[in-house]
Amino acid sequence: MLSSERIPNNVYLSDNKRLQRALERWQPKFLDWWKDMGPEGFQDAHKVYLRTAISADAKGWANFDYVRMPEYRWGIFLAEPEHERKIAFGDLMGRDVWQEVPGEFRNPLRRLIVTQGDTEPASVEQQRLLGQNCPSLYDLRNIFQVNVEEGRHLWAMVYLLHSYFGRDGRDEGDALLERTSGSEDKPRILSTFNEPITNWLDFYMFAMFTDRDGKYQLLALAESSFDPLSRTTRFMLTEEAHHMFVGETGIARIIERCCQLLQETSGMAEDVRRQGGIDLPTIQKHLNLWFTLSLDLFGGEISSNAASFFANGLKGRPHEMRFDDHVAKEGTYDVPVPENGHLKSEEVPLRNAMNEVNRDSYIEDCEKGLKRWNRVLEKFGMSDRLYLPNKRFNRHIGIYAGHHFDPQGHPISEEKWELHKDEWLPSAADKQYIESLQATPVFEPGKMANWIAPPRRGINGQPVDFDYVRAEA
Ligand SMILES: [Fe+2]
Ligand SMILES: [Fe+2]
Repeated sequence: MLSSERIPNNVYLSDNKRLQRALERWQPKFLDWWKDMGPEGFQDAHKVYLRTAISADAKGWANFDYVRMPEYRWGIFLAEPEHERKIAFGDLMGRDVWQEVPGEFRNPLRRLIVTQGDTEPASVEQQRLLGQNCPSLYDLRNIFQVNVEEGRHLWAMVYLLHSYFGRDGRDEGDALLERTSGSEDKPRILSTFNEPITNWLDFYMFAMFTDRDGKYQLLALAESSFDPLSRTTRFMLTEEAHHMFVGETGIARIIERCCQLLQETSGMAEDVRRQGGIDLPTIQKHLNLWFTLSLDLFGGEISSNAASFFANGLKGRPHEMRFDDHVAKEGTYDVPVPENGHLKSEEVPLRNAMNEVNRDSYIEDCEKGLKRWNRVLEKFGMSDRLYLPNKRFNRHIGIYAGHHFDPQGHPISEEKWELHKDEWLPSAADKQYIESLQATPVFEPGKMANWIAPPRRGINGQPVDFDYVRAEA
């Protein structure tokens, strides 16, 4: 890569003048969007200790330095090509992967890329005000790291659209900057990315559960027969790990602080609140919300779209190699379907259940995170445990939408739902409480808001009290 290039890349952009010009025309639109919709209040007057990818290899993808966010070097990086890579699943298994988009799959592939691409700027928009009430400089730096990398993920998808989808692709690239999270007339494509994130408890849960959905979508796209998509998403996965780290450790630190406050008092949830902490029932409610919103992102349980994506090799299963049968023409998947207030098990042809297969492997991954959170409770000698609600609970997409289930997955009546929903999901009062805790930001290096414990260690070997975000005139 030439460091003098306007768009850092490892795709030989300067050899393709047309593409380079198209992307250079998109770049100022992206920067305008970043300045309008990116982190509010931290655009020009602050330098942030950020990781920047300057190449896709082990040495180059994690360079740390102070950067003004609008000057972040958003670039285009694909993982190295795999020699003679073959299609690994579906009806076309064993053939060469595609370096160009096959005409018959142009529309579905474009749709997959646009849908993935849309989530990236959406999350930046959802989180844009949180810098204003950060619990520490360490956390402030972390959210900005996540934000700039979601910006880079948008670049990754726009690169594919511009390179392989001609005029349509360029129009889609522009439209990605025109939709806005939560907008009435031009919302983001997926409903979870239109949900407001108004406090840091929401943010950490989002990074834990919704970024993890991102990981699973990227893993499924990394299997794609369209090789440039596979290589792009493989590199994006290296960055995604940090986002989930931010979410998981953020919540672990809130749990730790809650336990400390419980130990100092009689051990009641009200006491935690009285001392300005976040109590376990409130944590559980936010977990219930963001876990279930993220489950929706996998799509319907029984889906002919999912079946054709798999059959045609557009989108596989995360870690496809771990499965025995890559054709999946035979076999069924048990799906409990709601019927007259009960659940009836239905054997769905495996290909039509691919969304459910992916959702279940995601849930397994979430369970591991829950175990680590519960270890904090164990360490403090507490008997309470956090848990994942059943996958039928609080769903808005798929066969469970429009029905009510309790967190254990039992069908319940509308009345029962109304009666209990504030015990299961964050209420207006919970929201108000959390936001009252987070009304003032903490900008002093090393200092933490009262409701969160400090991290174990700092970023990139720096101390916790490092000056992660510097105000500069
Ligand atoms: Fe992303
Ligand atoms: Fe992410």
